[in-house]
Amino acid sequence: MSEFVVVSDPRPGVRVIALSRPEKKNALTRAMYDALSAALRAADADRNVRVVCLSGSGDAFTAGNDIADFRFGPPPVSNEIGPGGFIAAVAGMEKPVIAAVNGLAVGIGTTILLHCDLVYAAAGARFQLPFVNLGLVPEAGSTVILPGAFGRRRASELFLFGEPLNAVTAERWGLVNAVFPDAELMDRVLERAEVLATKPTRVVRLIKHLLTTPAASVRDRAEEELRLLVEQLDAPEAREAMQAFVERRRPDFSGLV
Ligand code: COA
Repeated sequence: MSEFVVVSDPRPGVRVIALSRPEKKNALTRAMYDALSAALRAADADRNVRVVCLSGSGDAFTAGNDIADFRFGPPPVSNEIGPGGFIAAVAGMEKPVIAAVNGLAVGIGTTILLHCDLVYAAAGARFQLPFVNLGLVPEAGSTVILPGAFGRRRASELFLFGEPLNAVTAERWGLVNAVFPDAELMDRVLERAEVLATKPTRVVRLIKHLLTTPAASVRDRAEEELRLLVEQLDAPEAREAMQAFVERRRPDFSGLV
């Protein structure tokens, strides 16, 4: 574990994994990547956790890879350890991951957001992909995801100039779901996380799986969805939801994992 990665459970079913190296803008060292990956895997395996939040501290989400760390050699080309392990851990999460971007999100601080389910940003947040200016190429599948999400023009603008994007533009482009006043960010994110934690966990996992797994065709996907929907109609989550409707009460999914 790394002292710079802090894990807490501030609300029922909500796990927060926070970067806590504010004096270095939460720049990520090898040990921090591995601690993040371990914390994410532990959260996915923990039956009490329904939603995971990633956050920063101080005035940064993260300034990206610790540049000083590069002196010890390039990161391992691996999906298990280092930055590759961290990206694979976020991308592989079965439970929803919410990013709370409190400030600067540089390099992997922005590319990792492409693998989160929801992204909320403080009004003062800034997003930057400075790879070109560092003589590097982008990572985390971002050269595929970003043009797919925002279009080639916007992706080219971000990657080829490496200039910061402000929170308002990031919201307009669809990089973030919503922008909150700086001082309210964490409370607002925890509110959203708490609501998400009341949803039926297994169904949230199924929907996330559908959203993140490419389908051969819309027709194939529609067939898969219908098969899952028919299965679900007889599952405890749907039975509880229908019963609650008949009894005019809110459904309670808390006992279901
Ligand atoms: N790696 C290592 N240290 C970093 C860092 C990084 N990616 N980003 C910031 N820091 C350190 C600075 O060296 C400084 O340390 P010091 O106080 O011991 O000198 C401290 O964090 C504060 O940073 P500073 O540059 O003084 O803050 P700022 O508000 O003026 O600028 C940034 C913040 C993030 C814009 C600027 O630090 C920066 O451009 N960092 C590099 C970001 C980057 O290129 N990341 C991608 C790597 S692939």
